[in-house]
Amino acid sequence: MIEKLDRIADTFMVGCWQLDDRSWKATSEIDIERAIDTYLAWGVKKFDTADIYGRSERILGKSLKGRQDCQIFTKAVFFDSIPSPKQIQNKIESSLRNLQRERLDCVQVHWHDPCLDFTSTLEEFTKYIDAGKINYLGVTNFNTPMLKKAIEIAPIKSNQVQYSPIDRRVEFSMQDFCIQANIDILAYGSLAGGFLSDKFVNAKSIPLEAEHARSFYYSNTIEKHGGWMAVRELLLMLEQVAKKYRIGISQLVLNWLSERDGVKAIITGLTENRQQIQSNMEALNTKIEPEDLKLISQRSAELFEQFGDIYSYERGV
Ligand SMILES: NC(=O)c1ccc[n+]([C@@H]2O[C@H](COP(=O)([O-])OP(=O)(O)OC[C@H]3O[C@@H](n4cnc5c(N)ncnc54)[C@H](OP(=O)(O)O)[C@@H]3O)[C@@H](O)[C@H]2O)c1
Repeated sequence: MIEKLDRIADTFMVGCWQLDDRSWKATSEIDIERAIDTYLAWGVKKFDTADIYGRSERILGKSLKGRQDCQIFTKAVFFDSIPSPKQIQNKIESSLRNLQRERLDCVQVHWHDPCLDFTSTLEEFTKYIDAGKINYLGVTNFNTPMLKKAIEIAPIKSNQVQYSPIDRRVEFSMQDFCIQANIDILAYGSLAGGFLSDKFVNAKSIPLEAEHARSFYYSNTIEKHGGWMAVRELLLMLEQVAKKYRIGISQLVLNWLSERDGVKAIITGLTENRQQIQSNMEALNTKIEPEDLKLISQRSAELFEQFGDIYSYERGV
């Protein structure tokens, strides 16, 4: 039992973009707090949020008040310009206030535009580590050249990237580099917003819902990498393998991901559906044979095209 709880605490991070009611269906704060309590009861100790996820930081801060045993990873997102020291200070103070903490566990810097020189920004963030306001710095969606440059400027501990059997751009060069440089890969989009689950195995075309980020975010990923027919093929194959172990497709996908080199944590998006929470938290209880993991890797490589490094098409490169 203790071993299972440790594995959940080590492997799973709950993604809290889903608290942003502008991108995902609106869930009441009471229901979100209940869901967070359920994750805590399962032994989850890491949560991921961002300055740009609407009410997410504030609700997390309220729900995890006093829980110093839990780590909250937030982000500082700069879409199109280099922030001034004052803007950085404002972001940090805002996150500290929202999260009701004296110190931020981890701030992940998100850069959209590789043409911007982020040297001064990373230097500025490093000062807040020295001042005891931030424990760790991470980055998100950095590609390999950006990360190589960043670690020369600041002590970067992790890179949060999309990683699933559909999107394996991390394997282009990031994975090897992170292993060699001792940087943790934190994987998001592992279930492609829920598309990689039994729910969609019979869908003949991509099901889009209003007010669900799955529709706009992961439909784009799917379109870029091979289209819905490729996902359907994958789901049918995953269903066969999952049946052999009497587990769900999403559990099999989480298992596959947990075995990929360099993956330190899997971020699954918060759901208030208790069955989904249980399914995700129990995913790693089943040992999948190496030949089945290999089969998933092979089929995914056949079905989905990869486009170079992390965040390539999102950045237009
Ligand atoms: N750094 C970045 O740029 C970036 C980008 C995206 C996400 N993220 C982070 O990653 C976190 C996770 O987001 P994600 O996009 O990766 O979400 P995800 O985990 O791929 O999908 C979450 C959705 O999947 C469905 N789901 C969850 N468990 C399921 C299960 N067992 N069976 C069937 N469906 C299931 C639920 O949708 P239903 O409610 O519809 O069932 C849930 O809302 C975010 O909260 C955020 O913290 C970061």
